[in-house]
Amino acid sequence: MRLILKNPAGIATCSSSGKLFKRGDEMKDVGLVVGADILVEDGVIKQIGTVEEGPDCEVVDVSGKTIVPGFVDPHTHLIFAGTREREFAMRAKGKTYGEIAAAGGGIIETVRKTRDIPRSKLRSQAQRRIDKMLSWGTTALEIKSGYGLDFASEIKILETANELKAQSITDIMITFLGAHAIPPEHSNDRQNYIRILTEELIPYISKRNLADFCDVFCDDGFFTTAEAEKILTTARANGLKLKMHADELSSSGGVELATGLDAVSVDHLENISSGEITLLAKSETVGVVLPAVAPYIRGKTAPARQMIDAGCALAIASDFNPGTSMVDNMQTVMWLAVSLNQMTVEEALNAATINAAAAIGISNRLGSIEVGKQADMIVINAEDYSYLPYHFTENIIANVVKNGTVLEFS
Ligand code: NIG
Ligand code: FE
Repeated sequence: MRLILKNPAGIATCSSSGKLFKRGDEMKDVGLVVGADILVEDGVIKQIGTVEEGPDCEVVDVSGKTIVPGFVDPHTHLIFAGTREREFAMRAKGKTYGEIAAAGGGIIETVRKTRDIPRSKLRSQAQRRIDKMLSWGTTALEIKSGYGLDFASEIKILETANELKAQSITDIMITFLGAHAIPPEHSNDRQNYIRILTEELIPYISKRNLADFCDVFCDDGFFTTAEAEKILTTARANGLKLKMHADELSSSGGVELATGLDAVSVDHLENISSGEITLLAKSETVGVVLPAVAPYIRGKTAPARQMIDAGCALAIASDFNPGTSMVDNMQTVMWLAVSLNQMTVEEALNAATINAAAAIGISNRLGSIEVGKQADMIVINAEDYSYLPYHFTENIIANVVKNGTVLEFS
């Protein structure tokens, strides 16, 4: 099966020249190629150049359009039940995210609903979210558990994520986030919940291959760095790769821990200190900025400009969840990254593709338009890739190419 994308106005390849991600100044270059076609064979990119049409070729004329890699969304909590618009309204009246959580709302509100919902409904709602994200160009994404917070409910969510992975055309990586909050039934004995995580859940998940990564919400009112270290080292010993939520609500010391443990990514970073920026820049850990969170919680924006200037490798993600980011569209995330986090359009595009793939450990096969990589691409109705974050309220995607199959959405 051969596919030719013929005559594009330009191809932003986001090529990383054989490296797993781009850091610092490398993020300024999207590897723009003009005057070339793309040949795909059996779902893999075979040639970028002048391609001759042959028999058995599907040819798509993309003149006047731009091709970019499929978006990778490396941080979502998209398996959840119910919504939390009332908390959004409370924050507009001055309540903080921490106050709402301490009063039993926040994550725990979603946990109650997610524990109660039947598995089939949880799955069908999540599947609809994934399909909608695909229509906006997200061809690969990560899903975290973390709205179960007891053995059976966390496993229900992880099994649902694995079913979605098996059923979806979208590439999915799965993260265990049992350490998202202390559930109310353990509020007076948090050590026991941490024991359940480390002695029961992590070994069970590892043995059954239910997750690729383990994550911890390390922040004020959630898990301390000492607790995070215990959970993450146990996860690593059980063969899971590591991620961390750090510095969202306060400067928590999470970056030092994440880089010290060689975490694949450390995410949020709204309150990262200058010392931590230096540590991150020297490490092989990808920083994941979640630009939608600051407006949702009326908090600080992550200093992406300083981090890139210091030489960090940054990705961006939606953080799609009912509390701090009801945003599921990477075009919107790019716009926020440029407008709020002071990233350039080129940096935001690399952050949403090659570096996002690196943040979930799949940039060896996804995240850029390069010979040998999986043919996941977006064809946009614009002659310049800058149109993506510029007119983000309109879905300007003409086609999503997933594994070499051309999907039509408009
Ligand atoms: O990434 N920080 C922790 N987790 C989510 C919030 C989850 C929620 O409020 O439901 C986040 O912002
Ligand atoms: Fe998150």
